[in-house]
Amino acid sequence: MADTAAPIDSTYNFIFWFSVVFTVVITVTMMYFVVKYKRRKGVPSEPTGHFNRLEIFWTVTPTIFIGVLFHVGFASYIKNATAAEGATEIRVRGKKWSWEFEYPSGDRVPGELTLELGRPYKMILSSDDVLHSFFIPEFRMKRDCVPGQYSFIQFTPTVAGDAQVFCAEYCGTSHSGMLASVKILPPAEYKEFEKTLGKCSEGPEICDEKHPERWGEKLFVKNACVTCHGTAGSGIVGGSKSPGPKLAGVFNTMQPMATGPGVMADENYLRESMLRPNAKIVAGYTTVQMPAFVMKDPQIDAIIAYLKTLK
Ligand code: CUA
Repeated sequence: MADTAAPIDSTYNFIFWFSVVFTVVITVTMMYFVVKYKRRKGVPSEPTGHFNRLEIFWTVTPTIFIGVLFHVGFASYIKNATAAEGATEIRVRGKKWSWEFEYPSGDRVPGELTLELGRPYKMILSSDDVLHSFFIPEFRMKRDCVPGQYSFIQFTPTVAGDAQVFCAEYCGTSHSGMLASVKILPPAEYKEFEKTLGKCSEGPEICDEKHPERWGEKLFVKNACVTCHGTAGSGIVGGSKSPGPKLAGVFNTMQPMATGPGVMADENYLRESMLRPNAKIVAGYTTVQMPAFVMKDPQIDAIIAYLKTLK
């Protein structure tokens, strides 16, 4: 179980019992009236005509109830949509037909997600091929994994034990077998698991892949990003303002745009700016001469991982 389950369960139960009570009250009243006012021989009907106060009463009351239901649902939605400060990020990649989890250490583990009890997590989801949906019923959490885009879910595991990841979007013949197990370990046991992470003995290429921020730094230099964004994205080239916007410390902040409202510099924004530099132009940088980079997801992820480290 995770902290996300309780608000969803309570909202569900609230709406369920709310509906049960009203179904019973309305049905019983209706049946009583059907019997009481049924047509009888010799008794003429007495139409009541229009009754304003009653009309207002049964319009306003349900509107208030609907407002309450909306508030209950929306409040728990917002609570579950907000990541805790300092949440541990795990990259989740869906592909036909498996799940891969990438830890902050850079280790990629297919088919098994190991989590620490009580630690807040943010899952960054994407797909390598078609539409999948990351679903952990025990956490009451489900989110689509869309190719070419990131989506997020966040939670804090609250009970140690096992859970199960399903794919909840039909994605081909082995969709039903697209499973992964979730292990929630108490902190002491998690420390043991953590010791197995971050070890790299496969040579520089693979080791780079295992450490996305290190790999990202190399790609940043290799693609000559430093020419326009400054060393380590400092926004300064040759002692003056660089041709491209500053990148250090930009992640997760609002960026003013040349036109229109500001934009949150999240993963999707960084990705879009690499692939389509003209899509959103930062205020003060009108001529965009940056080429659109053709890169695969792992490279883009690595550069984003690197940009996140720049303060
Ligand atoms: Cu992946 Cu269904």
